[in-house]
Amino acid sequence: MTHTLKAAAILALAAITALASSAFARAPDPSARAAALVAKMTLEEKLSLVHGRFPLLMNPRPKDVQVSAGIVPGVPRLGIPELRESDASLGVANARRGKDDDATALPSGLALAASFDPAVAYAGGAMVGRQTRQKGFNALLAGGANLVREPRNGRNFEYLGEDVLLSGRIAGASIRGIQSNHIVSTTKHFVLNAQESARQSLNAVIDPAALRESDLLAFEIAIEEGHPGSVMCAYNRINGPYACENVPLFAALKTDWRFKGWIMSDWGAVHSVGAANAGLDQESGQELDKQVFFDKPLRAALASGEVSAARLDDMVARIVWGMAQAGVLDHPLSPGGLDTAADGSVAQAAAEAGIVLLKNQGDLLPLAKSARRIAVIGGHADVGVLSGGGSSQVVPKGSVSFPAPKRAPSWGSGQTYHPSPPLAAIRARGAEVSFDPGTDPVAAAAVARSADVAIVFATQWTTEGADVSLTLPDGQEAMIAAVLAANPRTIVVLETGGPVLMPWLKEAPAVVEAWYSGSRGGEAIARVLFGEVDAQGRLPVSFPAAEADLPRPTLDGADLPPEGLTGNKPADITVRYGEGADVGYRWHERSGKAPLFAFGHGLSYTRFRYGALSVAGGSRLTVGFTVTNTGKRSGIDTPQVYAAGKGRTLRLVGFQRVALKPGESRRMSVTADPRLLARFDEGAHAWRLDPGRYRVAVARSAGSAELSGAATLSARRIAP
Ligand code: BGC
Repeated sequence: MTHTLKAAAILALAAITALASSAFARAPDPSARAAALVAKMTLEEKLSLVHGRFPLLMNPRPKDVQVSAGIVPGVPRLGIPELRESDASLGVANARRGKDDDATALPSGLALAASFDPAVAYAGGAMVGRQTRQKGFNALLAGGANLVREPRNGRNFEYLGEDVLLSGRIAGASIRGIQSNHIVSTTKHFVLNAQESARQSLNAVIDPAALRESDLLAFEIAIEEGHPGSVMCAYNRINGPYACENVPLFAALKTDWRFKGWIMSDWGAVHSVGAANAGLDQESGQELDKQVFFDKPLRAALASGEVSAARLDDMVARIVWGMAQAGVLDHPLSPGGLDTAADGSVAQAAAEAGIVLLKNQGDLLPLAKSARRIAVIGGHADVGVLSGGGSSQVVPKGSVSFPAPKRAPSWGSGQTYHPSPPLAAIRARGAEVSFDPGTDPVAAAAVARSADVAIVFATQWTTEGADVSLTLPDGQEAMIAAVLAANPRTIVVLETGGPVLMPWLKEAPAVVEAWYSGSRGGEAIARVLFGEVDAQGRLPVSFPAAEADLPRPTLDGADLPPEGLTGNKPADITVRYGEGADVGYRWHERSGKAPLFAFGHGLSYTRFRYGALSVAGGSRLTVGFTVTNTGKRSGIDTPQVYAAGKGRTLRLVGFQRVALKPGESRRMSVTADPRLLARFDEGAHAWRLDPGRYRVAVARSAGSAELSGAATLSARRIAP
């Protein structure tokens, strides 16, 4: 090497080293950074980080503190900013900030999950995270990953369905998208907050191994894939202790899964200072607890030695770690730049991906150009699309709210319709469109009779703080039946929080589940109805045929009064999750009760064929197959792979959304995460994959099989 070359190489090396060390100086390992910062903190500073305020009840509330979910003071001298927390997964919740506050609403969690596409969830999370920063917050109380065990749960619209793998992957992708904006995301509500009735006191009883194999595994996957800074513990009790002081649950999270971030409580979910020793790191919304346990009582517990100084340091280090790893410490907030018009396209794409075509007899959909006269009926389709209520409520500018029904929490903001009316979107496509509000079945039937095609919009409002029945409210069943009798060419579009019963189904040729479809929902619905995009969603929950078929035919605590601002009156009730890990479609297999529509079901406007199955066993199950679009138009399919060992119900081990042109084929391959096939052995505290034969189905939905096979897997022990 010549001298000049050598000198150049040395210079280059030095530059690379300098670059690396300056990068290191900017973003050192979050653990080392958290430890160094904690070492510099006074006791007062540490204590200030472990309990947060609920701005709505702050008196006085400083001018620069927005009404939002929470605020925790920072340590400015050490460069630790305040934590400014907002709800929630579906957008920046703004129901209490006045009509001029704008935000973009994603479709509901179930709609996002119905895309079966983590990329859709990531894009949604990235958009909401961006708006979170733009609106002056650096922490989002998002990442709802509770399994839908109870289809009547008022909060199902915030969750991602009944399946472990789907919920975990969609939650993980959404959290990654949120945190790509250098803000913290939580995942919540850890765990088994599966119903709203008596949520603040009920004891959820479940076999601990089954819990590992179901709800906990969904959170485990969400955390592995999303790396949230924080996990929010739930209100309810699990097998005795409250979720926010539940030693076995916290041990799973912190010891088994090596979660390095912090556990924050739900708002009003702390019951003792002892929660700190159990593993709770931060008390949130302190005004909602009986006392501010992590202020004076914690101080006293530290003085008496009941809580150690090391434990307090760990609590604080975890909070700082969560902020550091998300980038909160290095990317100070500079609010501004909100562009809801542009961001609406992200919400619309997500809504289109999640709308599920449940039934399409005689190819009534997509709407033919020959349909000149269309009757649109019901569902306030002239006003907008329905959204779910509670802390996650997003109110885009121009939304309209109607009073809540009687069984709703006192603190809600009514039934809110997002300003994207399906009626206008349908009209814009050129047909002659008449509208009837659907409040009188006779009038609705008359309007339907005079049209080529009728589209009935049926709504079910659900909210945090109350549960529902599966029957469409306000006489809508009778109205739908009357319209179907008047015009057999009727399409029923559902805007529901989750599954509903359909006693009129036989008469209905076409049914669409549009969920709560968000800021641009009306446009998305019209695009699917007119076939401008394929019908592409797949159900993330089973739709049962009757409430009697559920593991708990009657919902425990359904007769209790709905919640007030400071929670519901403690009710000493127990909810037994006897189905264990056999949630949703697995329950249908176990009980032999066929659902009305199965998990994973959803039609396309084209046809797909599956073939050339290959199954390999050994230490891991790998399944290959080919999917071909055999129809005449481009379309999107989501083939699903289910598998199970002997004596166990099938479960989803892989899925892949794929867009194919007519005649196009794609080879797909799925390798199953062995935890999805294993048993959790409580005694050995490990997963055990039993050796033997595992059945495999490549299917369009749970409980059906287009291709069947089997493989032999070898025994395996997997660390918890
Ligand atoms: C909800 C949480 C929410 C919190 C703050 C609670 O009532 O359960 O999901 O993040 O309030 O608004």
